[in-house]
Order: sequence, then structure tokens, then C-alpha cells
Amino acid sequence: MRLILLGPPGAGKGTQASAIVKKYDIPHISTGDIFRDNIKRGTELGLKAKSYMDQGLLVPDDLVISIVKDRLLEGDCKKGFLLDGFPRTLAQGEALDDVLADMDLKLDKVINIDVEKEVLIERAVGRRVCKSCGSTYHVKFSPPKQENICDKCGEELFQRDDDKKETIEKRIEVYLEQTRPLIDYYTEKGLILNVDGSKSIDSIFQDIINSLGD
Ligand code: AP5
Ligand code: ZN
Repeated sequence: MRLILLGPPGAGKGTQASAIVKKYDIPHISTGDIFRDNIKRGTELGLKAKSYMDQGLLVPDDLVISIVKDRLLEGDCKKGFLLDGFPRTLAQGEALDDVLADMDLKLDKVINIDVEKEVLIERAVGRRVCKSCGSTYHVKFSPPKQENICDKCGEELFQRDDDKKETIEKRIEVYLEQTRPLIDYYTEKGLILNVDGSKSIDSIFQDIINSLGD
């Protein structure tokens, strides 16, 4: 299965991605996670990406495209993949088409998670992430059993730097300008699967797998 997860910041892409990749046994490629991992390791790429991410802006296309291209050429992507947070501009979408055409591959579906702005802000502001294993929680909608401690590994949770209200509002604005046009792009290709992201985490997942099949 070759899938893309599209949707505004805080829509629940990462949350659904974890469940989808488990179900279909495919690699989860999140450009946001790749950048955050590079920031943590203090790489040159991380340093460059951080300056954009902290302002709620997109990292330049050429940087993102080359990373995804290299990742798709790795062996585990032969069985399929889930792209989460990529593409995010029309230029990235077109570049992905070229890479897949070179590999003689086609996308199966583009899952578009639709959520209204007020809900996005509430979801992002309340998000907490595990320092160690990256598991995502929400203080209200999906709290850990023990306050601020990861259920899976016992490490502390933290709030992402770009989850402050002002930065989220900027990220939503950037999404509307630069990423939303991709919905039309993939609708024209007959690939869009629209999902109502205002439902519970489990019902959204059910809607997705009911449409994708086994
Ligand atoms: P990225 O990491 O991709 O962030 P994003 O798209 O802004 O998405 P988020 O991670 O904020 O949200 P999500 O949709 O995954 O929601 P989640 O599941 O966590 O990108 C970060 C930055 O990196 C960008 O701003 C940019 O600078 C850069 N970047 C990345 N990719 C790039 C690219 N391709 N090009 C250029 N720059 C790029 O859920 C949110 C919260 O809600 C959680 O707490 C969760 O528990 C909760 N929740 C989830 N679903 C539900 C539900 N159904 N009901 C209630 N609560 C829910
Ligand atoms: Zn953890």
C-alpha cells in the first residue's frame, strides 16, 4: 500500500499514521519527525530546519524533496509506505510524481483528514510528546495514565516548541496557502479519500481502513 496523509497541523496525521502503518506493515515516513530527529542530534540539516520550524514556516522544498527521495529508495519502501506531512506544496507533489514514475510506482490513496480551525488549535496546544520514544498524547483527549509520563517507556513528556498558540496559527495559515491546493491536485487524479477528522481517534481509523480495505 502506497499512501499519503494530508491535513492541517494538529489534524491527527501522526496519530492515525501510527495505527495505519501497524495495520498494513509499511514504513512511516514523517518529514516532521525526520527534522525533529536531526534537530535532536544537532546535524546541519537540523539546524537549517529549526530556523523555519520555530517560525511555523515550511522548510525549503529542495531540502525536503531530496530527503524523501533518498528515503523512498531504501529497501523497506518496496513493500509500500505512508508519507505523513509530505508533500506540502505543489512543487513537492510534482517532485514526488517524478520520483515515483522513475521507480515505476503509483500511489494508492491520499487520505485527507479534515478538521476545523478551533479544534486544530486545541489539539496542538494540548499535545504532549515522549522525549524518548516519540509517542504522542493529549492532556484532554488522550492523556497518559500518569501525568506527564509516557505509558510505553516511563520517560517524561514535553510540549513541542512549535505548539505555542501563535506558532500554530501561523502554521495553519501556511497550510491554507501552500498545502491545501494539494487537495484539488489529488482530487483531479482520483486519489483523494476525505475523512472527517472531528470524530474520535478510533472511529477515524475505522473509517480509513473501511475505505482502504485489507
Ligand atoms: P509536522 O511534524 O509534519 O507537523 P504538522 O503537519 O504541523 O502536524 P502535526 O505533527 O502538528 O499534527 P498531526 O496532524 O500529526 O497531529 P497529531 O496526530 O500529533 O511538521 C512540523 C514542521 O516541520 C512544519 O511546520 C515545517 O516547518 C516542517 N516540515 C515538515 N514536513 C515538511 C515538508 N514536507 N515541507 C516543508 N516543511 C516541512 O495530533 C495532534 C494532537 O491531537 C495530539 O495530542 C493527539 O493526541 C490529538 N488527537 C489526534 N487525533 C485526535 C482525535 N481524533 N480526537 C481528539 N484528539 C486527537
Ligand atoms: Zn515513551
